[in-house]
Formats: sequence, C-alpha cells, structure tokens
Amino acid sequence: MTSWDPSLRTGHSVFDLDHQQLAMLLDLLEDSLSMLPDSAYPATMSQRLLLEAREHFRREEAYLRHDPSPESAEHMASHDEFIVLLQSLAAAVAKGDAAAAAGRIAEARTMFVDVLLPADAAMLAVVDGAGAVR
Ligand SMILES: [Fe+2]
Ligand SMILES: [Fe+2]
Repeated sequence: MTSWDPSLRTGHSVFDLDHQQLAMLLDLLEDSLSMLPDSAYPATMSQRLLLEAREHFRREEAYLRHDPSPESAEHMASHDEFIVLLQSLAAAVAKGDAAAAAGRIAEARTMFVDVLLPADAAMLAVVDGAGAVR
C-alpha cells in the first residue's frame, strides 16, 4: 500500500518532499514487517521514521514561531502527539509485536492525512496571507 498521493501536496515543495518521505518510510516499515520480519530492517526503519519526523517538525515549527497564529499551539501539540505514536510504533517493532505495529502504522496514516496535513495547509495559508515568501 502506498501512503503518498499527489493530492496530499500542500504546495510547499520542501515540506511536500518531507511528507512524501515520511509516507514512504511508513510503507517501507510496513513492507519490511511482512517481508523481512526477522531482519534488523523494521527496527532500523522505525528509528529512521522517528528521526525524519522530528527533523520535519523542527523545520515546520521554525515557520510557526515566525508567523504564529491562534492554531499554532494546537499544531505543535499534534506534532508531539505524532512523535508519541511513532515512539509507541518503534517500541512495538522492537518487541516483535507485528499486530501492534500494524495498528500503530494504520493510526499514523490516519493522523497524517486527517490532522497533520490539514494543519500544515492552514499554516501555509497564514504565512501566505502575511505576505511571507515561500
Ligand atoms: Fe508537515
Ligand atoms: Fe505540521
């Protein structure tokens, strides 16, 4: 299953590539759990996903602090919530609990599309409205 779809673009090329990469890492993790379950690959992917998500949120939060809006605090809280979910995913992978890992992956995909990407679209609309250069 592919998590990324061009309709998920926000219009910010750097953030869109970040999002595409996060979606791809979720796919790689899912596939590695079913195809290479006894290898180190799933654990490596789950740690890489955490690292890349943290880096991405750091980049976005620099934006949010530069042009704060009433939604900024909630947006940053959703980043923290996603990191907690990815930590729980990494813990399930480390324990070899494939069913729990699959559940966390499904939750992460839902949160990505239903919460994180809409918050980013709203953030970029605020930045554009303030006349900032993308
Ligand atoms: Fe984002
Ligand atoms: Fe965000």
